[in-house]
Amino acid sequence: MNKLALYCRIGFEKEVAAEINDKAAERGVFGFARVQENSGLVIFECYQAGEADLLAREIPFNQLIFARQMIVVSDLLQDLNPEDRISPIIEKYRQIAPHFSPLKQSTEIWVETADTNEAKALSAFCRKFTVPLRQALKKEGWLKFKEIKRSGITLHCVFTANNACYVGYSYNNNHSAHFMGIPRLKFPADAPSRSTLKLEEAILTFIPKEDESKRLNENMLGVDLGACPGGWTYQLVRRGLFVYAVDHGKMAASLHDTGRIEHCPEDGFKFQPPKRKQIDWLVCDMVEQPSRIAHLISKWLLNGWCRESIFNLKLPMKKRYQEVRQCLQQLAEELTAQGLIFRLQAKHLYHDREEITVHIQLKNGQAKNGQPKTAV
Ligand SMILES: C[S@@+](CC[C@H](N)C(=O)[O-])C[C@H]1O[C@@H](n2cnc3c(N)ncnc32)[C@H](O)[C@@H]1O
Repeated sequence: MNKLALYCRIGFEKEVAAEINDKAAERGVFGFARVQENSGLVIFECYQAGEADLLAREIPFNQLIFARQMIVVSDLLQDLNPEDRISPIIEKYRQIAPHFSPLKQSTEIWVETADTNEAKALSAFCRKFTVPLRQALKKEGWLKFKEIKRSGITLHCVFTANNACYVGYSYNNNHSAHFMGIPRLKFPADAPSRSTLKLEEAILTFIPKEDESKRLNENMLGVDLGACPGGWTYQLVRRGLFVYAVDHGKMAASLHDTGRIEHCPEDGFKFQPPKRKQIDWLVCDMVEQPSRIAHLISKWLLNGWCRESIFNLKLPMKKRYQEVRQCLQQLAEELTAQGLIFRLQAKHLYHDREEITVHIQLKNGQAKNGQPKTAV
C-alpha cells in the first residue's frame, strides 16, 4: 500500500496535489500526484515502499488545508466480480497483516466514494456492501474494538465504480473522524442564513469539544465583520456571546430579539471595538481580497483588540493554493515580527465553496506599549 488517497471538494484536486507534494517534500518523500479534474479524489503515489504510511503518520492532518481525508491505499482493484467483491479486498489486508500490527487495532470499516454528483448512485451500493464486508473482516479477527480508539486505525474501501476500489486505512489520531471526511450538520431552522453552517463547522473543526464552553461563552464579546443577515452572529449568540454585528445590510429580526447583538452599520475595515470593551472573538465573512482580510485580522490581533478569530478567505482566483500560502505567510510574519505567539489553522470546510476558513488563537498578548506580554 504505497499511495495516499485524499478526498476534496470537486474542482480542488490541483490544490490538494500541490499541497501534498509540498508536505511530502518537506519530509524528504517524493512521489507523483494523479489528478483527475472534478473527481473529488487525488492519489499520491510514493516512489519508495512504506512512505505512504510514513506520510499518513507524520503529516498532521489538521495542517492539510484542502484535503478532507487522508488514507493509505493499495493499487486500484479493478474488474471486481459482482458475485464476490469481498475476497480480493480481504486478500489485500491479508498481504499487509504480517508486518502491520495496527490492523489488530482496527475499529471500523468505511465503504466510501469521492463526493461527486455521479458518485451519489454509488453511495447506496456502498451502504449495502458495508455489512457483509464488515462481517468478513471480523471473521479474519479485525475490527474487534467496539468503541473508536484514538490509537487504532479505520479501514477504508474507496469505490470509484461498483467494480473498482482502493483498499486501505487511516490513523484515528490523524484523520477526519467523519465518514467521507464530511461532518453532517443539521441546518438550525431559526438561523438567518445557510452560511451559519460554515461557522458551526469551523468551531467543530478548530476547537476541541471539551474546550468549547471555556472559549465561547456568555461572559464574552464578539465582533462579526460582514455580519448580515446574521448566520455567523447566530452561532456566537447561541453560545452566549454578545455580538457587535458590523455591516451596512440588515440583520435578521430574530437576532435583534435576543437582546444579545448591537448592529453597527459601518465599514468593516474601519470599525474599531467600542471604547473600554475587550473583544474576545473576531469573526469575518466579508467578500474581499484575501490579502486585505489577512491584513485586517493581523491589525486586530496586533492592536490587542481580540484574542481569537475565525475568518474566511475568498478564493475566486486561479492560483488558489499559492494565494492561500502567501496570505497565511503574510499574517504569520506580521504577528511573529511583533513577538506574538499564536496557533494558526486553515481548512477548506465542507460548507465552504470558493473559500477557506482560517482560525487563529493568540497564545500570548500585546501590551499597550507594543511590547509582547505572555498570557498566564
Ligand atoms: C457572505 S455575506 C456574510 C454572511 C454572514 N456571515 C451570514 O452568515 O449571514 C458578506 C457580507 O459582507 C458585507 N460586507 C462586504 N464588505 C463589507 C465591508 N467593507 N464592511 C462591512 N460589511 C461588508 C456584505 O454587506 C455582506 O452582507
